[in-house]
Amino acid sequence: MRLNGPMQLTADYRVAAVRPRDGGLVAVPTETVYGLAARADDAHAVARIYAAKGRPADHPLIVHVAQALALDEWADFVPEYARRLASEFWPGPMTLVVRRSARAGDFVTGGQDSVAVRVSSHPMMDATLSALISLTGDPAIGIAAPSANRFGRVSPTSAKHVLDEFSGIIGDEDLVLDGGESTIGVESTIIDCTDDIPRLLRAGAVTVDDIVRVTGLTPGMTSPVRASGTLDSHYAPTADVVITDASGLGATHATDEARIGVLALASVPTPIGMVRLSAPETNDDYARVLYAALREADALQLTTVLAVLPDDSGLGAAVIDRLRRAAHS
Ligand code: TXA
Ligand code: MG
Repeated sequence: MRLNGPMQLTADYRVAAVRPRDGGLVAVPTETVYGLAARADDAHAVARIYAAKGRPADHPLIVHVAQALALDEWADFVPEYARRLASEFWPGPMTLVVRRSARAGDFVTGGQDSVAVRVSSHPMMDATLSALISLTGDPAIGIAAPSANRFGRVSPTSAKHVLDEFSGIIGDEDLVLDGGESTIGVESTIIDCTDDIPRLLRAGAVTVDDIVRVTGLTPGMTSPVRASGTLDSHYAPTADVVITDASGLGATHATDEARIGVLALASVPTPIGMVRLSAPETNDDYARVLYAALREADALQLTTVLAVLPDDSGLGAAVIDRLRRAAHS
């Protein structure tokens, strides 16, 4: 596998754009997390992604497109509130689930009658899509990209995470575009737009308050639609994640054998004998460092991570959601 610096670009995007056709995998950064990419019209390339991830075939993928106009090509019906969301938050960390058009194959949607669509703001995803558009002449062409991690594990927020995640699974013919660290750090907000009102399927940087402000509608919080990131147990490192509060943490004592990591906002002190994994200053920082900290816990062979949740403002809601799932056994 090659690691490309962000300086040697154009040629690599063209390579990245054609690569899924000749069998290799491509990991592409987005502002949320890194994705494992394949042309969304190529059943074989998509099948390889499922195999590399170990992902069950009925878990649908997100289709990344270059611009909001492509939404109508993938959707059978787009409600007005979804258009408002798209014009406000795309390109950005938001995915809309819409009723699918004939363009969205069963191999991408997991056989559901809806499809998830996103326009990422990351210049490398954008450049890869641009290369693919000029290659195919199709402005609505999509790149299917799940987070570039093994199924159920922690999502990658750097090129190195992708390499660690797939060492021994993907090889020399595969490609990772190195876009540095993802600036948001947790996956996109997923909003189900198949009905009269929006429903929040996964918390992310676009918050419930944002949805209310832009659509004038209060989103539903549950949906019959399946989302694998909404399985109870997900985003899990090997270490046990245990949720605690600041006073509970203060009362916990590390024994000699236990190797305990601490993840909390900087205002929470580290008890003696424990390993501080990260000390983010804000909820946004917490989201950005979260997955790297969980990976670090495994690299240090810690047995337990004690996590103190932030409040639910801004990206705090997404951090709480991911930590709860990571803690669920
Ligand atoms: O930030 C992100 O969204 C990243 C980057 C790479 O774009 N992608 C990502 O993909 O998180 P993935 O596959 O790890 O998570 C996508 C989620 C899954 O939980 C999947 O079940 C859900 O989106 N999803 C996809 N299509 C859906 C659909 N038609 N209906 C409901 N949920 C869907
Ligand atoms: Mg994922």
